Amino acid sequence: MASVFITRVVPETIKQSLADQGHTVSEWTEKRDLAPDELIRYAKSSDAVFSVGGHAIDNRFLTACEHLRVIALCSVGYDHVDVAAATRLRIPIGNTPGVLSKATADTAFLLMQNVARKAIHKHKEILRGNWGFFDPMVDLGIDLQGKTLGIYGLGRIGYEMAKRCRFAFDMPVIYHNRGHNEQAERDLDARRVSFDELLEQSDVLSVHANLSGKTHGIFNGDAFSKMKASAIFVNTARGSMHDEEDLRVALENGEIWGAGLDVTDPEPMAPDNPLLEMSNVAVLPHIGSATIETRMKMMKLTVENLLAGLRGDHLPYCVNP
Ligand code: DGY
Repeated sequence: MASVFITRVVPETIKQSLADQGHTVSEWTEKRDLAPDELIRYAKSSDAVFSVGGHAIDNRFLTACEHLRVIALCSVGYDHVDVAAATRLRIPIGNTPGVLSKATADTAFLLMQNVARKAIHKHKEILRGNWGFFDPMVDLGIDLQGKTLGIYGLGRIGYEMAKRCRFAFDMPVIYHNRGHNEQAERDLDARRVSFDELLEQSDVLSVHANLSGKTHGIFNGDAFSKMKASAIFVNTARGSMHDEEDLRVALENGEIWGAGLDVTDPEPMAPDNPLLEMSNVAVLPHIGSATIETRMKMMKLTVENLLAGLRGDHLPYCVNP
């Protein structure tokens, strides 16, 4: 029997599946993030952590809690984890790949269409009492049909976004990856290009790469200046891959046409952020995987990882090399 600490409130069925194996479960019920020292305190009296949210699993935490038998993340991204330190301390780290690819791609697709048709802006205009005189050529959107989709980081989520765009809007797909994605080249006629070609040729550029030292801030003023003035930038991956100030300037100066963001840096975005007032910007509060079905699948995978770790088995979805 082991004790599991869950960093958020999760459904009873999820807790029950741990209790059924004889484990005791405690959860963080406050509607605020655990402070680093609080997380250490709770983890110190537990054998395993079920980690929901982006709190840092850094070297300090891991060193203080090196007794942990497993840390199971309820996310696919693990840029908030010091995997090297966990591996050195022999703490297995699990994540939830695959099950959120479609929901996250749906969010990217939703943002692309929102920006193309200025949907969020139009909704705000109604709230402001501005649904009045019909002016046929004022404040229009753009068509997506046949436009070129550029994917930065064509993995599972990027593939799903490309599939949606290819089949819904007949969009040719180009992508920038370290290697070839043969499935996308075969199924979607996707074409691998250099980073500069991606910037120069995309009508919609959607970011699906992992956050790393290489991708941090890669969409900066220099990158935006190489994009088409008619291009839409979409980021559902991690907010620190784009430079927010450079993005704002590029949007204001008409260097690109619009932006759809499900991720920002920091999160949450401040309500007075100027991007929120721009007619060519749509921002969502990091809801990529936020559907009932997808979140349940993520939680179930997290339980699978936890139980495997507590049995001393290899985690089915392990991020340690
Ligand atoms: C993930 O799973 O990494 C999503 O971004 C949710 O945090």
